[in-house]
Amino acid sequence: MASGDADAPVPPPDPAVPLAVEPAVEIKVRDDGPYKITGAVRLIDAQGNELSFDAGRPLVLCRCGHSHTKPFCDASHKVSGFESCVRARAIAGRRT
Ligand code: FES
Repeated sequence: MASGDADAPVPPPDPAVPLAVEPAVEIKVRDDGPYKITGAVRLIDAQGNELSFDAGRPLVLCRCGHSHTKPFCDASHKVSGFESCVRARAIAGRRT
């Protein structure tokens, strides 16, 4: 791959090509904000204890490091000046 190809726009997945496994969970990396997780998940701490949250709503986890309620986002990213806009890039041999 020539240098510079990594920054090329990634075409959307071909809907005619089925995924090997239909994902049950979606993790969205929000611009300048948290991870938003939809789908049934368990959230556990480093000791294996389960953290409770409202399972009827998306799970929103801090990505900026400024939350006072980690691992959950408390919107502190808005006043901390956190900036991060992640975009998918093509990786040889992987779907994005
Ligand atoms: S991403 Fe929202 S408080 Fe860190």
